[in-house]
Amino acid sequence: MKKIVMIAVALVLATGLVFAGGKADAGKAKIGVSMPTQSLQRWNQDGANMKAKLEAAGYAVDLQYAGDNDIPTQVAQIENMIVGGCKVLVIAAIDGSSLTEVLKDAKANNIPVIAYDRLIMNSDAVSYYASFDNFKVGVIQGEYLRDKLNLKSAAGPFNMELITGDPGDNNAGFFFNGALSILKPYIDSGKIKILSGQKTFAQCATPSWSTEEAQKRFENIITSVGYGPKGVKLDAVMASNDSTAQGVTNALVGAGYTKANFPLLTGQDCDKASVKNMLLGLQSMSIFKDTRTLAAQVVEMVNAIAKGDTVPVNDKKTYDNGTGIIPSFLCDPIFATLDNYKELLIDSGYYTEADIAVK
Ligand code: BGC
Repeated sequence: MKKIVMIAVALVLATGLVFAGGKADAGKAKIGVSMPTQSLQRWNQDGANMKAKLEAAGYAVDLQYAGDNDIPTQVAQIENMIVGGCKVLVIAAIDGSSLTEVLKDAKANNIPVIAYDRLIMNSDAVSYYASFDNFKVGVIQGEYLRDKLNLKSAAGPFNMELITGDPGDNNAGFFFNGALSILKPYIDSGKIKILSGQKTFAQCATPSWSTEEAQKRFENIITSVGYGPKGVKLDAVMASNDSTAQGVTNALVGAGYTKANFPLLTGQDCDKASVKNMLLGLQSMSIFKDTRTLAAQVVEMVNAIAKGDTVPVNDKKTYDNGTGIIPSFLCDPIFATLDNYKELLIDSGYYTEADIAVK
């Protein structure tokens, strides 16, 4: 027994997996946190939360944002983190498949990698994944539309359009498939009609989850189908997140829609702009993913790695990154509408009233 313990300790020391948090700045273990962009609200919050929580736990933090979703910048920043002596890397990838090379260096230096929110694909350097239940996000959106349109008993048909995220983001497929797992039977039976004809993930994808791209695609759909308050009726839009929903809202408002005739429109993230749209009647729901919870969970993971303890995970079957299953911790996404946004967002201290005040 003693021998086994000694071998384990020797292994841990040799791989450098256990390190000290330390008190004085110089002695603190450094954690690298790589975020994709500062142009979407949620990643600023994620970065700020991660930094604050890691520092409170006694670590030094190298937090970097990769410009505006610039892959070479993200690769260079991660390389610097490795060279700079980071003990753990926490990475929200821009493109899940672009980090294979740089992460070989992390592995060669025994630096554990935690994929943050988005799974990093095709790299055996990824040790853990922390996210929300991404399939469930889509299921909640699909169920919302099913129930609001009363698809189980109403005769229909209803006109719906679909819009989802960046093809390089592994989450996007989970969101889309989650929503389709609820909506597809109705699409197949003809109760839901998608008049644009754009039904596949590739047709509904939005590069970089960009609001402008979403708006452009939607303006084209409005024109080609003839949707409008006085034209063809549009009953619902399944948008996978808030940044794309905002593009849809812009296009619909541009086409003359008002809150009196606005179609159902889903979202995700509870971005300030989307909560305001909800208050204005220009988006129907969102999904609250409390980035404080995710950050706290990742700090737990880092602490466990630092101490050589078992890392807390709650899913060992869903996320295969091409090199095998990545042990994951999936937080719970929460359905948000005008009925519960105060409790979720204001009472919990996530936003102030002023953050989401509408003029
Ligand atoms: C995140 C979403 C976010 C989207 C765009 C996804 O990976 O899970 O919360 O809306 O990226 O930033």
